[in-house]
Amino acid sequence: MELMEGLLTRRSIRRYQDKKIEKSVLEEIIKAAQFSPTAHNKQPWEFLIIEDKEFLAELRHIQRWTSFAKDAACVIIVCGDIEKSFNRNKEDEKWSFIDVDCAIATQSLMLAAWSKGIGSCYCGAAPMQRVVDTLRERLDLPENIRPFAIVPLGYPAETPKQPDDRYKPEKIHWGKW
Ligand SMILES: Cc1cc2nc3c(=O)[nH]c(=O)nc-3n(C[C@H](O)[C@H](O)[C@H](O)COP(=O)(O)O)c2cc1C
Repeated sequence: MELMEGLLTRRSIRRYQDKKIEKSVLEEIIKAAQFSPTAHNKQPWEFLIIEDKEFLAELRHIQRWTSFAKDAACVIIVCGDIEKSFNRNKEDEKWSFIDVDCAIATQSLMLAAWSKGIGSCYCGAAPMQRVVDTLRERLDLPENIRPFAIVPLGYPAETPKQPDDRYKPEKIHWGKW
């Protein structure tokens, strides 16, 4: 699939065929995510792949907008390593690019999946603190690992309507506001 076509046709897929995604395909998808840009090239991410049906069904109790994950082939929990991210933690300056880095990787991952005919849907975890804490506890994640996004994946069993037109020229400001 051509890049521009992928960017324009990727839609959130929430219905899936009962079909496994091969490990080699998942590895390629994650490879694409790992080529994403990151602040100071820190690459502070980790990817947790879970196929366990019980966990997939349980997810809706952890994050309420993930009920469809029960039918996915797997979920990828995109995580950030707080200690590896580009950050400042001083009295007068506190920030971290961890969520930005993870968000970009999540989009790359979904686009790579789409290029292979695999549907996905970005489901937020961070910055919802309760979801972050529950995932960390349930999945036994170390303290420095921040679960950022939950991405159910599967071969599509639906063809979502493409938006009429999201292109809004009035949102582009040429040279001045
Ligand atoms: C930060 C973020 C959080 C999201 N969380 C959820 C979610 O919890 N459940 C869900 O079904 N979709 C979720 N979505 C998907 C959006 O609903 C979807 O991207 C949006 O409606 C646009 O549709 P499209 O992805 O088909 O272009 C999320 C998307 C983003 C970017």
